[in-house]
Amino acid sequence: MIPKQPKLRIIVLSVAIMLLTNVHENLLQNEKYKSAAVVRGNYQYYHYCCDGVDDRGWGCGYRTLQTVCSWIQHQISGQDVPKLREIQQALVAMGDKPDSFVGSKQWIGSLEVAMCLDYFYDVPGKILHISNGASIGDYLEQLEEHFHTNGSPIMMGGDDDNSSKGIFGVNRSSMSLLVLDPHYSGKNNQVNQLLKEGWVQWKPLTSFHGKSFYNLCLPQLQAKNKSQKV
Ligand SMILES: *[C@@H]1O[C@H](CO)[C@@H](O)[C@H](O)[C@H]1NC(C)=O
Ligand SMILES: *[C@@H]1O[C@H](CO)[C@@H](O)[C@H](O)[C@H]1NC(C)=O
Ligand SMILES: *[C@@H]1O[C@H](CO)[C@@H](O)[C@H](O)[C@H]1NC(C)=O
Repeated sequence: MIPKQPKLRIIVLSVAIMLLTNVHENLLQNEKYKSAAVVRGNYQYYHYCCDGVDDRGWGCGYRTLQTVCSWIQHQISGQDVPKLREIQQALVAMGDKPDSFVGSKQWIGSLEVAMCLDYFYDVPGKILHISNGASIGDYLEQLEEHFHTNGSPIMMGGDDDNSSKGIFGVNRSSMSLLVLDPHYSGKNNQVNQLLKEGWVQWKPLTSFHGKSFYNLCLPQLQAKNKSQKV
């Protein structure tokens, strides 16, 4: 009798990163939510170091782009969320950056985000230039309209205020924006900590830099799901 051969199994583990989903939802409490316009649809929260690449000090624009990409992915099937290096390669392929950009620690802003959304997903990004933080209030209606019609997350960059962030909602009655900050570099499993430390929070317009210009990229893709979650 031939002894049973132990089966040799090769298990290929794809290195899936587990990221938190829809981290802003706890900030939307029942009826309160009605006074705000927010992102519709699912997304993953990308932030510094979230995939093992230490991008502290330079990667925030890329991370916000990745968060936006994850939202797009939930809307249209397509390519995976690009890695930091793939984003840099795309910008070189488009002729926007020199070859030396790949592997560098150079920042990206809303214009690069718009180009990448076009490159990876064929989704145009509308650029909204706000000449100074003190006048963001003049654009709240437009932002509200964006969340009503498209429902996509917005990338926000600036000059004096060069910390890019995701804009996930607008509340005109409290004059505040729902901000998702990509500068968090901790673990991916602590949504309460994110809320406690303010990595996702409603920020009054007065907390933006009055003298900084801001460039916003508004992805022109309509969320499939028209109904908002209450
Ligand atoms: C929007 O602002 C109003 C006025 O401050 C407030 O009552 C409401 O709870 C806010 N909505 C959200 C979702 O925070
Ligand atoms: C970002 O802003 C900070 C504070 O205003 C400034 O010290 C720093 O040089 C800026 N970095 C870049 C790359 O513009
Ligand atoms: C659309 O959103 C509503 C409310 O959040 C949810 O109940 C429903 O399942 C969603 N539909 C789809 C197709 O995702």
